[in-house]
Amino acid sequence: MAALLASVDGTIGPPAQAVIGVEDEGLLRGDGVFEVIRLYDGRPFAIDEHMARMTNSAQRLRLPFDAALVEAEAHALIATGADGAGLIRLLVTRGGRRIALLETMPELPETLALATITYAPTRVLDGIKSLSYGANMLCTRLAREQGADDALMVSPHGRVLEFPTKSFFYVLADGPLCTPPLDDHILDSITRRHVLAATDARERSLTTDELGRVREAFAASTLREVHPVRSIDGRDMPEVPGPVTQAAAEAVRARVDGLLPA
Ligand SMILES: Cc1ncc(COP(=O)(O)O)c(C=O)c1O
Repeated sequence: MAALLASVDGTIGPPAQAVIGVEDEGLLRGDGVFEVIRLYDGRPFAIDEHMARMTNSAQRLRLPFDAALVEAEAHALIATGADGAGLIRLLVTRGGRRIALLETMPELPETLALATITYAPTRVLDGIKSLSYGANMLCTRLAREQGADDALMVSPHGRVLEFPTKSFFYVLADGPLCTPPLDDHILDSITRRHVLAATDARERSLTTDELGRVREAFAASTLREVHPVRSIDGRDMPEVPGPVTQAAAEAVRARVDGLLPA
């Protein structure tokens, strides 16, 4: 990612000159919360949902959090210069720093080759989008070492979960579009909610034993909306993107356009 402009506690400037204290436990322990919000021509998508999730994350983490101030600083940063930015990242640290970064969109492959990586979700962090993302980043690195684009995280008990930074949707044989339930200890992704609202997708757990019968799959995320999967552990999907994935991508695209602020 490339940051274009930064705000720390409301002071806006170049990212290289943005400063926080080295004793901040946000840095020392990954103790804090964050959100990444997509900008479409400078317009943030679903900012209310992101602020609500961030407020909830902070409450559960026992982190002091002023939602109105964080949101006002986000809007001020966007108003100062969202040209060329695709995302705004918001962080609040244990040290009390409010950070906002305007970032360009990262380069993403057209389709995703996945490698399954075993990962045990940290129960106490359920429902919290915390800054402790070292394990998620490692999962992607381990998958890339195997030649894949990203990791499909699976539990030690053989449940398919999600990606390190995206939700997972799948179609089994000629079944319906499905996604693992939140009870499987995955993030309550905002894009996942919009896919569920825009399609007839349903929640259903998936086991690793069933992965060989997955006919279509996609990732859902703020960054890329619907992102087709082309292979899982070296097994190619028969059609990429498949018809269900294409229909979901179009439905989500239309929903996002319809919900964007004027
Ligand atoms: C673990 C995880 N799952 C799913 C997602 C997708 O969530 P959203 O749609 O809110 O971007 C993210 C986003 O960062 C994530 O970190």
